[in-house]
Order: sequence, then C-alpha cells, then structure tokens
Amino acid sequence: MPDIQIMPSILAADFGRLAEGCARAEAAGADQIHVDVMDGVFVPNISFGPDVVKMSVAAVQIPQNVHLMVTQPQNHIKAFAEAGSDTIQIHIESKCDVRETLAAIRALGKRPAITLNPETPVESIFECLENRWVDEVLVMSVHPGFGGQKYLSYVEGKVAVIRRMADWVDIAIDGGIDNTTVERAAACGVNLFVAGSYLFKQDDMKPAVSDLRKTAQD
Ligand code: DX5
Ligand code: ZN
Repeated sequence: MPDIQIMPSILAADFGRLAEGCARAEAAGADQIHVDVMDGVFVPNISFGPDVVKMSVAAVQIPQNVHLMVTQPQNHIKAFAEAGSDTIQIHIESKCDVRETLAAIRALGKRPAITLNPETPVESIFECLENRWVDEVLVMSVHPGFGGQKYLSYVEGKVAVIRRMADWVDIAIDGGIDNTTVERAAACGVNLFVAGSYLFKQDDMKPAVSDLRKTAQD
C-alpha cells in the first residue's frame, strides 16, 4: 500500500496568518498542505483561489494538495498548476469532461485526483481507476463546504472497494478526521489523511500529527 501521509487543511488556519499556518503545519511534520478551494456554487461557501496556493508554496517546502470544490474545474486547472499545486483534485460531480480534465492536469505535469461526495456511488469513479486517469482518490467523509463537521463512517465501504480495486492508488479521506476516527479510516485502506480543525486547534500540532500517523500505521 502507498505511504501513510498527514495533510493539514489550512481552511482551519487563522486567515489573518495563513503563511504562518502553513509553516506551522510543515514544522509539525505534515507531509502535504491541503488547500480547500470553494467557488460558492459547487458548495455553499467561498474560500481560496490560486494566490493562496502561491502563498503556501512560498511558505513551505512540502507539496500542495489542492482540492477544487468548484463547478467548472476545467477553467481553473491551469491557474492552479501555475500557482504551484502538486496534486489537483477535481470532483466527479462537477460539470466537466472528467477524462479530459484529468488528462489536462497530467499534461501540466501535476498529479490528477478524483474526489467523490459522501452520497456519490463508488461505481462513478471506476472508469478513472480502470484507465489509471488518476494517481489519487479523495473520499469525502463530510458534505463539502465547511470544516469542523462530524465524520460520516458510511463512506468506509467505498474506501474498501477502491482499495480492493487499486492497491497502487493513494486514497485520501477528508472531513472529521481526528485521533478517534483515523484508525477506522486506515483500517479500510485510506493512506492520506486530511485533518483541519483537529490539527489547527492544538496548542502544539507536532504530537497530534505524530499520533495520527502512528495510529494510522498500527
Ligand atoms: C470540507 C473540506 C475539508 C475540511 C476538513 O469541505 O474539504 O478539507 O477542511 O476539515 P475538518 O478536518 O475540520 O473536518
Ligand atoms: Zn478538502
């Protein structure tokens, strides 16, 4: 199975000190920075654009894992690639030609990833796996749009199906990950863990990152 990695979501950082938030995550031992991009249409909230990815690239050395919660990702991938994204995640529910958009991400030299909402059937992404259009799958364990929501354990069945189909793929989980939910997500095959509110609420983020990693590995 691919490596276990911890990806703090800067949606939970102090927006007045975002660069410091990124640096804090890196110093705590994070493997990637997770940047939640929301357009106010695909989800009810508005968050960051490509300039925030640029800011994070300038603040840290670790890769940028960019989650596009936008209706028309095909119109934005070039800007996010140029800003310094390493992985670009598009939603299967978005209004784009998924195959073309994932191919365009790869053509820009970035890692393509497909994301699915809690209610979306796992079969919807089979084509992406069978044809290896993606390097990563992001399974939403909350309804996207806001941090700090409760983990939805019913998505674990989808993770197990994806892991059985593709032992090579990175499987990320996003939403409600903390020291109580990380273990069960890992048990069904997740190897990349996004955590926002749990990590940023810590006085000292470092032991929390280590604990998540250790619990996921055991
Ligand atoms: C939700 C975002 C998540 C969110 C996770 O729409 O995609 O990445 O920041 O936040 P927590 O860990 O607080 O659930
Ligand atoms: Zn996210």
